[in-house]
This record gives sequence, structure tokens and C-alpha cells, in this order.
Amino acid sequence: MPYETIIVETRSRVGLITLNRPKALNALNTTVMAEMVAALKIFQEDAGIGAIVVTGSEKAFAAGADIKQMQSMDYIDAFMSDFFGGWEEMTRVRKPIIAAVAGYALGGGCELAMMCDFIIAADNAKFGQPEITLGVMPGMGGSQRLTRFVGKAKAMDMCLTGRMMDAAEAERCGLVSRVVPVGDLMEETLKAAAKIASFSLPAVMMVKDAVNRSYETTLAEGLLYERRMFHSLFAFDDQTEGMTAFVEKRSPNFRHR
Ligand code: HXC
Repeated sequence: MPYETIIVETRSRVGLITLNRPKALNALNTTVMAEMVAALKIFQEDAGIGAIVVTGSEKAFAAGADIKQMQSMDYIDAFMSDFFGGWEEMTRVRKPIIAAVAGYALGGGCELAMMCDFIIAADNAKFGQPEITLGVMPGMGGSQRLTRFVGKAKAMDMCLTGRMMDAAEAERCGLVSRVVPVGDLMEETLKAAAKIASFSLPAVMMVKDAVNRSYETTLAEGLLYERRMFHSLFAFDDQTEGMTAFVEKRSPNFRHR
């Protein structure tokens, strides 16, 4: 399927989606949204894919929603089209998605990274929610996901001042899982994705589901959900294989991948 704004590739069992609007620093417009969601759905359905990576360029992961597209929009356009509501489709993808972020991840770019399951940042990454400087506010998770990830103080600071956070600060406050040199970003992220894709896919999908559940429920309900999921994995022969391989001191050969 030809795409206009993204590049879609596979690396063995990893699906790789690269934002490709270099002249606009990968600004997100409705075409990017539609293409990203379509590509993710194809990877979701593809039994040969076990994990997905979303990335941009060394200069910009994405510099936000496309300001030129939004400039002439009025309220009725935004409301009736549920402008950018389609990004929520990303959160319905059941396979893990890693964001590999170098350069600017601003506004919708930061929010897109946060819709992924975790973020690996290059040491030149810069995160921010500068919508306030444009007379608006975050619209695809900046006030909600960012607050859950980094806490109220930093989320308020970021969203109210519009300042950028560098990679070291982002790691310190829990926005990103690790920081690597910019030249190693893709190798390290693809390595992490390949590792995930080597595991039993039902177990991987249940881990994603259970961790995400912790944002939606009480501790007691979440713990019960986790335990039931854990029990259910004993229904798959991958549990026998994984544990037998450990006892026999060999690598597991999971069937459900
Ligand atoms: C459209 C953008 C853009 C954007 C950059 N460009 N960001 N176009 N939308 N968000 C374009 C510029 O217009 C320019 O094109 C080209 O990319 C290069 O950008 P420069 O500004 O010349 O680069 P530089 O000086 O290096 O500055 C980089 C930057 C700056 C700091 C990232 O571009 C910037 O501040 N961008 C806007 C960031 C922002 O406010 N994002 C939040 C958007 S609102 P031309 O053709 O002029 O050369 C948002 C809302 C989300 O995301 C909620 C949705 C529901």
C-alpha cells in the first residue's frame, strides 16, 4: 500500500513506521493520522509481526500537529470532524509499540510518543507541549497522559509555560524508559523490539494489557486482573516450553509468535 507521509518497513518480526514529512519536521496532519492508523492495523493483523516501532528523523520525531492545517480551522470544523480523535485508534493496537524519539517531540508529537507503550529517547530529544504559545492547549493527551507519567508539577510546568524538556530530564521524571546516543537510537530500539517479538505473543499482549489496566482501575481490581491473566497463560503450551527450556538450560522455542 503506497503511503504519502510515512515509510512502512519490516525488520524480521518488527514492524517499523517512520514519519516522513521532513520539510515540515514531521508535523502531524490528518493524512499522517489516517496512514499511521492503517499501517498499525496491518501490523496488528500480521501474524509475522510481534512488535512495532514508530520513529521520525534525527532532527524531529514530530514537531506537533500541523499548524498550517489548523490555522484556518474553526470550531465547527474541529468539533464535527472530531479533529484528531482518530489518533485514539492507536491505543487499541494490542501489540507493543515503542516510540524511538530523536530531536523535537512537541505538542502532538510528544502526545503521539506517549500513546506508544514506551519511549526510547536519543540524547538530542526535546519534549514539550507548546500549544499554549499558539493560543490553544494539548488536544491528544498532553494534559492527561503527561500528568500521569511525570506528575502534576512537571505537567503543569510544561503545559503552562510551553518549555521544552531535554532527554536527561525526561528520563529523570519517567517520561522515557532510556536515553541512548542519537547514532545508536534505531539499533537500540530495534534490538528492544526484536527481543519483545521473540517472546510468546499472547504473554506479550497480556503484559501490555495489564500494565495499561493500571491506569484505568483500582489497585485491588488491577491485581486481580493481573493474576487472572497470569493464570490464563498456563493454558498456552508456551508456558510449558518457556519453563522446560529454563530447566533444560536451552533457549525457548515459543510456538505462539
Ligand atoms: C506545521 C511546522 C511545524 C508544525 C515546524 N514546521 N513545525 N509546520 N506545523 N507544527 C515547519 C516550519 O513551518 C518550517 O517550514 C519547517 O517546518 C522547519 O521549521 P523551522 O521552524 O524553520 O525550524 P527550526 O527553526 O529548527 O525550529 C524547530 C521548531 C519550530 C522549534 C520545532 O519549528 C517550532 O516551534 N515548531 C512548532 C512547534 C509547535 O508549536 N508544536 C505544537 C503544535 S500544536 P517552512 O515551510 O516555513 O520552512 C499541536 C496540537 C496537538 O501539536 C493537539 C491536536 C489535537
